[in-house]
Amino acid sequence: VSADGATPGGAQHVPTRGSTGDAVTVHVDVRPPYPVRIGPGVLVEAPRWTPSRRVAVISDGHVDLLHGDAVATALEADDRRVVRLVVPPGEASKRVPVWHDLLRRLAREGFGRDDAVVALGGGVVGDLAGFVAASYMRGVPVVQAPTSLLAMADAAIGGKTGVNLSEGKNLVGAFWQPRAVLMDVTSLRTLPHERFAHGLAEVAKHGLLADRALLQAVLDGELAPDADDEALTRWVAASARVKATVVARDERESGTARATLNLGHTVAHALESATDHAIEHGEAVTWGLLYAAHLSHLHHEALGEATEDWRELARRLVRRLAPRPPDVHDWGALAPFVARDKKARDGRRRWVTLPSPGDPRVVDDVPPERENDAWEAFVADVRTLGDVEEGDGT
Ligand code: GLY
Repeated sequence: VSADGATPGGAQHVPTRGSTGDAVTVHVDVRPPYPVRIGPGVLVEAPRWTPSRRVAVISDGHVDLLHGDAVATALEADDRRVVRLVVPPGEASKRVPVWHDLLRRLAREGFGRDDAVVALGGGVVGDLAGFVAASYMRGVPVVQAPTSLLAMADAAIGGKTGVNLSEGKNLVGAFWQPRAVLMDVTSLRTLPHERFAHGLAEVAKHGLLADRALLQAVLDGELAPDADDEALTRWVAASARVKATVVARDERESGTARATLNLGHTVAHALESATDHAIEHGEAVTWGLLYAAHLSHLHHEALGEATEDWRELARRLVRRLAPRPPDVHDWGALAPFVARDKKARDGRRRWVTLPSPGDPRVVDDVPPERENDAWEAFVADVRTLGDVEEGDGT
């Protein structure tokens, strides 16, 4: 139980000086534990979680324009010296030269071990700035302030930080847990609708893993860019609670709990690579969840286990989120990319399956012909679903 009296992974209302009082706290119960604050206006809490004289606010050009002033003003009003470091938007900023440049900027500004970083932006900024904080002087405090739904749902919680190499994504990095995560739900209204849908794929994944009401909220369009602050806060907090609970059980992914967050991601990453990133991560995850529904059904039925068929839920998710269809139809074309999945151990492919919603497994005994059968069933669905209208979630 934390100082605020919340249970691990739980959520409660904690009126706080400097915020609207409508925020919710979800605790991530690692050592030391840290809060995820979710609500309208929580960016003004930045000074509370950065106990340092100097604060570097690392952001990208788009996000800095939209939200940089709010954070800087709150910090300066609390007598901090703020250095705003802005990188170009996009995945290309998640590279060693950009990370190196940011470290040198901190050194030139005289940052010390007690100074802090705020990572203000989407997943790229969170990973990059988190890794700057993890590596500068062997580690300085960081506050994650995600502004996209994708980053709120996934990257900002759990301490994974890093950059890409030409040889592959996230090949350099560190686990570096933040002091706090500030999710200002009003920033979601500044997102283009399709980017909101990309984040919904990860939220729906959390719903499938552990929270049916959350899944239903996504399918019913309750978590939407035009939802009110209370609904945005409630559902973003529900998603954060699922992730926080998994991270607390398996902080360093040394067991299988954290690997279950990979539901739908084996095929998603393969689709992204096979299409040379023509489809976005959130779109690929939506399709990956549909494949996972087919594979889970075929695999656990074949083992004679009790299952709850969730293929229709996955189809409804595709109709709701309307991802662009992947231009890959042949398992033979995808399989080499699937084989590179980082979950493989001792040459054995591992899949996250879900015999029933709420009951994830990590399995390594799926025969290749079953992977192929699931693919054929998936492709038949893609052909039917591929040209549906956005929001046709019935
Ligand atoms: N994105 C999966 C994880 O944080 O473990």
